[in-house]
Amino acid sequence: MEFTYINPTKIEFGQGKIAKISQLISKDARVLILYGGGSIKKNGVYTQVKDTLKDHTCFEFGGIEPNPTKETLDKAIAYGRENKVDYILAVGGGSVIDGAKYVANAFFYEGDGWDLLEGKYTPTKALKIGAILTLAATGSESNTGSVITKEETKEKRFFHSPFSYPQFAVLDPDVLKSLDERQLVNGIVDSFVHTCEQYLTQQHGAMAQDYYAEGLLRGLIELADTFDSRDDLWYANLMWLANQALNGLIGLGVPQDWATHFIGHELSGLYGIDHARTLAIIQPNLLTVLEDEKQEKLVQMGKNVFGLDTKDSSVVIEKIRTLYSSLNIDLKISSYTDDKEITEKVTSLLEKHGFAQFGDRGTIDKSVVIKILEKSI
Ligand code: NZQ
Ligand code: ZN
Repeated sequence: MEFTYINPTKIEFGQGKIAKISQLISKDARVLILYGGGSIKKNGVYTQVKDTLKDHTCFEFGGIEPNPTKETLDKAIAYGRENKVDYILAVGGGSVIDGAKYVANAFFYEGDGWDLLEGKYTPTKALKIGAILTLAATGSESNTGSVITKEETKEKRFFHSPFSYPQFAVLDPDVLKSLDERQLVNGIVDSFVHTCEQYLTQQHGAMAQDYYAEGLLRGLIELADTFDSRDDLWYANLMWLANQALNGLIGLGVPQDWATHFIGHELSGLYGIDHARTLAIIQPNLLTVLEDEKQEKLVQMGKNVFGLDTKDSSVVIEKIRTLYSSLNIDLKISSYTDDKEITEKVTSLLEKHGFAQFGDRGTIDKSVVIKILEKSI
């Protein structure tokens, strides 16, 4: 256990908190408001933002896609430069916030912003970011991650930058009420898998990380069980559980295994499948293929998360699979695409992106990925 920890994002949590942002952004800032396909114009969030920023100088750029593309974001950068903006306000889910991180970090760079994703450009300065979260899933509102797609090549890659921590994040659970069930399910699953990627590894004895992760998993299962009777507290719990699952805390100084995400990202890049659904498809099969090395943590999860009394890790994997099925997720890639070359395309993209040997023990290579995909197609 060795780590340095800071999470500088100020969280404003609760109903009606959007009104606070006028105090959180300096009055002389030139603010570029980024948003997605227009959900904020239907659910009242846009009006709340405009009302509270009525004395600020604001510019707007909408149309950031789910699985945001660098092609669209480059247009946002050009627009922001034209208008000499110096602050980015992201209003949306993970895609808009990730997009804001790309815009902020590439803003002062003369080259191609995609260099951020290829590790060829390390920013030394960036625009400040504020976030109003409208979809609880990714934790992007208070972490350094950003996942961007290059439409031209169908590649989906990620980058981290210390400048990507938003200065503040507004988490008003009421905003989640306009989400359809598909997106709410995505939120539960993405947060569940984020926690697992930092927990289902190997024994390490770091109690705070392990037991906190187990608490988050139990909470998320409770939300799945009570999905049909959602009340204010349900939404508030989803918003905070999702944040805590990927704000850096539970992964401190412990092994992590982001293999499900790495494979899932290729599937979203190639076929546009919702991020969380790629995870639900891949994770149970990955756990089955790697069952021997994950056995101890799976049994611990069975006991502390699912309340099982078993040493049989396959029962725990089945519990996870049943959880996803209970949320009506199709767990086969073939339900989303007819492509016959899935395995070839995913493995060659993973190779291109440098994933030759991955997983927390470095045991996942091409042959293991093929086994996982065979079970998933
Ligand atoms: O675009 P609009 O019109 O806003 O509609 C969005 C979008 O269609 C809609 N939506 C968002 N808030 C809403 C709403 N609809 C009604 N009411 C609301 N309150 O939901 C759709 C999906 O939004 P999106 O932002 O794409 O979803 P999510 O938050 O799940 O983000 C997914 C993206 O985040 C990346 C994923 O790869 C994917 O690209 N991730 C980012 C991470 C990070 N930064 O740390 C980690 C994750 O593992 C993940 O990879
Ligand atoms: Zn995720």
